[in-house]
Amino acid sequence: MDMNVYQEVVEKFGTPCYIFDLDRFRDRLKEVQEILGNRAQICYAMKANPFLVKEASEWVDHLEVCSPGEFAICERAGVPVKQVVLSGVNKEEKDIRYIVKHYGEQVTYTVESLLQLDNLQKAGKDFQRKLPVLLRVTSGNQFGLSEELVRSIIGKRSSYPALNFIGLQYFSGTQKKRIGVLEEELMYMERLLCDLEKYGYEAEVLEFGPGLYVEYFPGDTRTDEFKLLKEFAALLPKVHFKKKINLELGRYLAASCGIYLTSIVDQKINNGKGFCIVDGGIHQVNYFGQTMAMKIPAYRQLKKCVFQPVTEKDTAWNICGSLCTINDIIVKKLPLHDASVGDTLVFENAGAYSVTEGMALFLSRDLPKVLYYDEAKGLRLVRDRIETNFLNYDSRVKN
Ligand SMILES: Cc1ncc(COP(=O)(O)O)c(C=O)c1O
Repeated sequence: MDMNVYQEVVEKFGTPCYIFDLDRFRDRLKEVQEILGNRAQICYAMKANPFLVKEASEWVDHLEVCSPGEFAICERAGVPVKQVVLSGVNKEEKDIRYIVKHYGEQVTYTVESLLQLDNLQKAGKDFQRKLPVLLRVTSGNQFGLSEELVRSIIGKRSSYPALNFIGLQYFSGTQKKRIGVLEEELMYMERLLCDLEKYGYEAEVLEFGPGLYVEYFPGDTRTDEFKLLKEFAALLPKVHFKKKINLELGRYLAASCGIYLTSIVDQKINNGKGFCIVDGGIHQVNYFGQTMAMKIPAYRQLKKCVFQPVTEKDTAWNICGSLCTINDIIVKKLPLHDASVGDTLVFENAGAYSVTEGMALFLSRDLPKVLYYDEAKGLRLVRDRIETNFLNYDSRVKN
């Protein structure tokens, strides 16, 4: 995708909007899988960007699906249900029963509590299914089961005849930079899996979320883009567990495949500081570690002056969104060339979480458009601008 595509988006569709580059996403998936070799399969954590789930399903083995809403997206997108790993800390009984009834053992279910275990056993029994289950091991927070509980469940697994305990799941957090931490976590899982053998149990799957780091701010030391992944891949042959390893990855796959476009709608100098007001804001673009907007993400400026610039020289601008909070600063001191109303700012690496994690309802502003791009089909609108004001008032009132 080049500047001409961005220009076309601004002219035909307007801002704010996201563009998700499907070619780039596909290439990224292929590159990551190539580095991992055949020792690990990819499980795309769709929470990073649900708009990419269909494309992902064509290139990866599994999809981590974390809510009934995400599951409904998978159904609508027509992804193969056998790829779904149904995860999540809150699995309501009605949702579990719906999925078990309709899809049974095609789906893999994670278990994060005794209640989830019970509900799955009941649903499996009622619908006469033997459900593949991964026990999620906690890293000390509200997610997953304690190690003791995992051992106890595996020890008495025959009391759950409707469940097939295929293995363990582990994910402790995102944006992990240090290979040492990843190695420790991997070895922890390895030890636990090995320990469970004393119950006559042999796992078939280790589902592991490494939470690989994505560099959002080019000022960070940039070496080989895939260095961390390569180091992680080099650990895999050391793992004695010889069965399947699935790597749950979200941000690492999706971040670089999206850009966010927002345009300058106003401009001022207040007390000597330059402010550009843009039509988007922090509710739509989200860089992990963006706190106080002190770091500069990868960006470009598309010129289209529609109003006399307030200064003529190159200046560093505070880029503020349209929300009613002083926190709505996308970036401070962004160097721009003759910035003026009408210019568009293109923020890169906006493919993960931005589209879903923002506080979309604040100030009842509209949700931005979403476009797909690939070379074969060009640009297409897949979600139009959506008004949210209907969601922020008594829903019984019409008009
Ligand atoms: C269980 C689980 N797996 C995988 C992920 C994806 O993490 P990341 O986007 O850092 O790859 C998450 C993110 O919250 C998660 O909760």
